[in-house]
Amino acid sequence: MLAVEYLRAGELVAFPTETVYGLGGDARRDDVVRKIYAAKGRPGNNPVIVHVAEADDAKEYAEHWNGVAERLAKHFWPGPLTMILPRGQKLSAAVSAGRHTVAVRCPKHPVAEALLRAFGGPIAAPSANRSGFTSPTAASHVMAELAGRVPLILDGGPCRIGLESTVIDISSGDVPTVLRPGAVTLEMLREAIGDVQLSIRTVDNNEAAASPGMQDRHYAPRTPACRFNKSQWPAALAWAQQHQPVGLISCDDAVLLAAPHETVRMPEDEFEYARALYGALRELDEKGLKAILVLMPEKNEGVWVAVADRLRRATVELPAAEARR
Ligand code: TXA
Ligand code: MG
Repeated sequence: MLAVEYLRAGELVAFPTETVYGLGGDARRDDVVRKIYAAKGRPGNNPVIVHVAEADDAKEYAEHWNGVAERLAKHFWPGPLTMILPRGQKLSAAVSAGRHTVAVRCPKHPVAEALLRAFGGPIAAPSANRSGFTSPTAASHVMAELAGRVPLILDGGPCRIGLESTVIDISSGDVPTVLRPGAVTLEMLREAIGDVQLSIRTVDNNEAAASPGMQDRHYAPRTPACRFNKSQWPAALAWAQQHQPVGLISCDDAVLLAAPHETVRMPEDEFEYARALYGALRELDEKGLKAILVLMPEKNEGVWVAVADRLRRATVELPAAEARR
């Protein structure tokens, strides 16, 4: 497999997973992990996820592996769940960005699984986008973000889930804490391991965060993007007329814009919405619009928690002066 030769030579390879595309390299080599940070333009204080072929490999890279980790692995691996564990000594320290912990995930995607098995080692892989911007859910998105910065992109078609994995911190004795919600929902986690708390507090971009990917501006398109609730639709409409043309992302037939604006009508199902979201943001981002408006979905359980989290980070609130009009 050509990709394995690249990885063995210390090169980077972009590859598909069920969540988003990753920018992978040998997680045991400092020089390779530094290359990943450089290609993304990622700040050195934001640690990266280490991907493994199976749970037994994760045990090797963690300092401790307890009953909670065991249960999570049994229920959700391979799959869209990342565990924060105490860091063992076999990985490049660079994957942890100075922390005592390491993030580990066993992905469920035929290409990712084949790559991990053939390589036979841990692959460090953040999402394959420039730092701060929208994660890629298709190989063409990786090309748009990283052409010239990664020598090989494996095309596995569109990602089935389309949002980054759920990140859960089980590294301390405290209640397991979800730092980034995802397709493995709080409800699913609580059923598997009991008490779980959600901590998606956002912080200023310069402040150290529990998980630096939790910074406020993240997962964002390049076009200025504003969010609004359905009750703010009249204000959003007025705002759109002043800033035309705008793009609108809506999951409600009562909230649509006609030409010269562009509307993307989103699916009503939570999984389908999640799958379509980054592609929709990217599509509108490429149209040279003045702004993107996003109607916030009203539901607040299951995968909607993750959808709302990403939308909040990708947008700012509709300017208050407008929203009050
Ligand atoms: O679905 C995914 O997780 C994708 C695919 C490629 O697997 N990867 C991904 O990686 O989204 P990345 O680097 O874009 O996001 C990793 C998140 C960031 O929010 C990072 O701050 C957090 O996990 N993270 C990584 N290591 C951590 C650690 N030791 N402690 C706390 N947070 C950590
Ligand atoms: Mg990312």
